[in-house]
Amino acid sequence: MLDGFLGTRATLMLDVVFLAMFVVLPVLAVSIYLARVRKNYLWHKRIQIALGIVLAVAVAAFEADMRLHGWTHLAEPSPYYDAQTGGTVFTVLWIHLAVAVTTAVLWVVVIVRALRNFPSPPAPAEHSRWHARWAWAATWGMVLTAVTGWIFYYLAFVAS
Ligand code: HEM
Repeated sequence: MLDGFLGTRATLMLDVVFLAMFVVLPVLAVSIYLARVRKNYLWHKRIQIALGIVLAVAVAAFEADMRLHGWTHLAEPSPYYDAQTGGTVFTVLWIHLAVAVTTAVLWVVVIVRALRNFPSPPAPAEHSRWHARWAWAATWGMVLTAVTGWIFYYLAFVAS
C-alpha cells in the first residue's frame, strides 16, 4: 500500500480524495454561479458532467484501495477507534457512507434527467423547476459528503 503525502496515517488514495474535495466544492460553486448569475448554461453543463466523471473515478479508486488493503489497522492509534465496537470512527463512517451513497444516486439522476430534459445547448425549460429543487439537494449532499469525509479522515488517521 502506498503511503500518503500529508504526513498522517492515511494512504495515498485517502490523501488524494481528502484534498480533492477541497477542489470539488469551489468548482461546484463556480459552476452554479455560471448557471444562476452568468446564465452560462453550457459551461455549467460541461463542468457538472466533468465533476460527475471525476467523482465516479475517485470513488472507484478509493473503494478498490480500501477493499484491497483495509484501513482499520491505520486507525488503531486513534483514541476514537475501538477494535471491538469500532468507536466514534465507525459511527462517523456510517453517517458518511449513508450521505455519500444517497448523494451519488442523486448526482446520477440529476445529470441523466438534465441531459434528457434540457434542450441542447442547455437553457431554462419546463425541467427547470425539478432541476432547481433536486440539483440543490445534490449540491448540499456533496457538501455534507465532503464534511463528513473530512471528519472521518481526522478521527481515523490524524487523531492520536
Ligand atoms: C449533479 C449535477 C448538477 C448539479 C448539482 C446542478 C446544479 C444546479 C443548480 C444549483 C442550479 C441553480 C438552480 C436555481 O436556479 O436555484 C442549476 C441550474 C441549471 N442547470 Fe444544473 N446542475 C447539474 C447538472 C446540469 C446538467 C447536466 C445540465 C445540462 C444538461 C444542467 C443545466 C442547468 C440549467 C439549464 C440551469 C438553469 C435552470 C434555470 O434557471 O431555469 N445542470 N444547476
